[in-house]
Amino acid sequence: MDWVTSELSERNLYKLLVNTVLPRPIALVTTVDANGHANAAPFSFFNVFSHAPPLVVLGIEGRSPAESPLKDTMRNIRATGTFVVNLVDRALVEAMNVCAIDFPAEMDEFAAAGLTSLPSQQVAAPRIASSPVQLECRETVSLSLGTRNRNLVVGEIVHLHIRDGLVDDQFHVDVDGLDLVARLHGADWYTTTRDRFQVPRQTFDKWRSQQATQSIADTGEA
Ligand SMILES: Cc1cc2nc3c(=O)[nH]c(=O)nc-3n(C[C@H](O)[C@H](O)[C@H](O)COP(=O)(O)O)c2cc1C
Repeated sequence: MDWVTSELSERNLYKLLVNTVLPRPIALVTTVDANGHANAAPFSFFNVFSHAPPLVVLGIEGRSPAESPLKDTMRNIRATGTFVVNLVDRALVEAMNVCAIDFPAEMDEFAAAGLTSLPSQQVAAPRIASSPVQLECRETVSLSLGTRNRNLVVGEIVHLHIRDGLVDDQFHVDVDGLDLVARLHGADWYTTTRDRFQVPRQTFDKWRSQQATQSIADTGEA
C-alpha cells in the first residue's frame, strides 16, 4: 500500500508514522516559566541530530485553539530559551507517564509524579535527579510548522550529566546500567534497550574480499 501524504487525514497520517518509525527515544523535558515555575513533559518526537555542534530536536504539538494554543513546554522555551532533556530509564517510566497528563499550567508535575529536582549548571530549568542522563540545552532555533501551533525546536546541549558509575575513563558508557526505554506503537507501548544484536561495521576492503570468497564458493572456481 502507498499514500500521497497530503491526501491522508491528520489522524491517519499520525497513526501510520508513529506506528512505523519506532522505537523512538523519549525526552522528559523540564522547563521553567518566566516566574521560575517548573514544568516536566515527555516528548518522543525527539532525537540527537549532531554531536558537533551537539544538537537535539523536539517536535511539540499545539493544543486545541480554544485553550492556550501552546503546550507549557513550548511556552516556557519561548520565554526562557532553555530546557533540559532528561532521558527515561525503566524506573522512571511511570513518573514520566504522570508528567504526560494535561495538568493546568500552575500545577507542579514534579510533585504530582514524585520527582526530585536538581538545579542545572547552565540553564534555569531544573534537572530530574533520578534520570540517568540529563542534557542542559539552549534553544538554537524554533520553526513554527504552520498548522495547529506545532513547533520544531532545535537546542544545543551546553552541559551533559551522566549518572556516576556509568562512564569509564575511556568514555565508554555502561548501556545496560542506563536501562533506557523507548516509545513503540499505539498510545501505550514501550520497549527497553535490552534486546540487542551486533552487526560489525565493515571496511570496503573487507567487504570486497568477502564478496570474492562468496563468489568462489558459489561458482566452485578457485
Ligand atoms: C511517551 C510520550 C511521548 C510524547 N511525545 C510527544 C511529542 O513528541 N510531542 C508532543 O507534542 N506531545 C507528546 N506527548 C504528549 C505530551 O507529553 C503531553 O501533551 C503533555 O501534557 C504536554 O505537557 P506540557 O503542556 O506541560 O508541555 C507525549 C506523551 C507521551 C506519554
